[in-house]
Amino acid sequence: MHSIVQRPRRLRATPAIRELVAESSLEPRHLIQPLFVKEGTSTPTPIPSMPGVFQHTVASMRSILDELVDAGVKSVMLFGVPSERDAVGSAACDPEGILNVAVSAARTHVGDSLVIIADLCLDEFTIDGHCGVVDGSGIVDNDATLDHYCAMAVALAKAGAHMVGTSGMMDGQVGAIRSALDEQGYTNVGILAYAAKYASAFYGPFRDAVESTLTGDRLAYQQDPRNRRESMREIALDCEQGADIVMVKPALSYLDVVREAADSTTIPIAAYVVSGEMTMVELAAAHGLIDRDRAIAEILHSVRRAGAHLVCTYWALEYSRSVTRKVQP
Ligand code: PBG
Repeated sequence: MHSIVQRPRRLRATPAIRELVAESSLEPRHLIQPLFVKEGTSTPTPIPSMPGVFQHTVASMRSILDELVDAGVKSVMLFGVPSERDAVGSAACDPEGILNVAVSAARTHVGDSLVIIADLCLDEFTIDGHCGVVDGSGIVDNDATLDHYCAMAVALAKAGAHMVGTSGMMDGQVGAIRSALDEQGYTNVGILAYAAKYASAFYGPFRDAVESTLTGDRLAYQQDPRNRRESMREIALDCEQGADIVMVKPALSYLDVVREAADSTTIPIAAYVVSGEMTMVELAAAHGLIDRDRAIAEILHSVRRAGAHLVCTYWALEYSRSVTRKVQP
């Protein structure tokens, strides 16, 4: 025997002691489930680039919402996939547009049992797939876009959204939307601000999911992956402008940003495990290269450990159902 006084293995010896000293946890209430709702379809359509994820009809969305409530999940993030797009993304503000229809159907169906967050961005609705309106020289016009965002926010609030998720990375979007909502009396509709959103290759599969028409890139408005301090600036600005929750996106390549955000703000932090991050795991698991359930649990816990209060993930429902099976990382 050696005289080793500090033996960290004592705290790892049995499942009970590991449970006792675990530093973070992940419960269904920590998860946000993104859902895609497509206009003009009668059956849910699998998304080829995102194994296990569907473009829903309004009816199939309703049944998933019931399942989320049963599984203890508290929030859903809705994305619309319209059948027609135009230069200014008019469908985003149209009460008959698919996202507003989905939000309204969701709110009528679940009331306040789930927090209904609606994605607030024009990229699904514009013909060129940009997150805002493009001016004559091909540049996304920040301030002109804000007018559309304000109208979209009010339309989503009218449809019944509890929160809007500002994902377009325009300067001043949180402040402009906050004023527009307040002016119309929607002081209780919250803003989940995608504060630190990077121009990421990991959004690739999502662009299939929403049938994106984007040909260029979003480098002139989303953040440069090389930067960390810039995120702190974006987060501080969104907090000043009235964000209720700030989100870091993607999650996995940016866990340092999640940690710093958690340490430097007093509002809840969310992080989004995006489509490409999910698909990497699904494809590796499909090839028998990794244990899928353990990999998912490890990834979701890593985001919590980094400091996120909320994790937006396509695995929210599945993970929440499996909590009773106690899959630990
Ligand atoms: C833009 C938006 C995107 C995602 C969520 N909101 C795509 C983009 O910025 O290009 C990506 C989500 C994912 O990849 O899972 N409205």
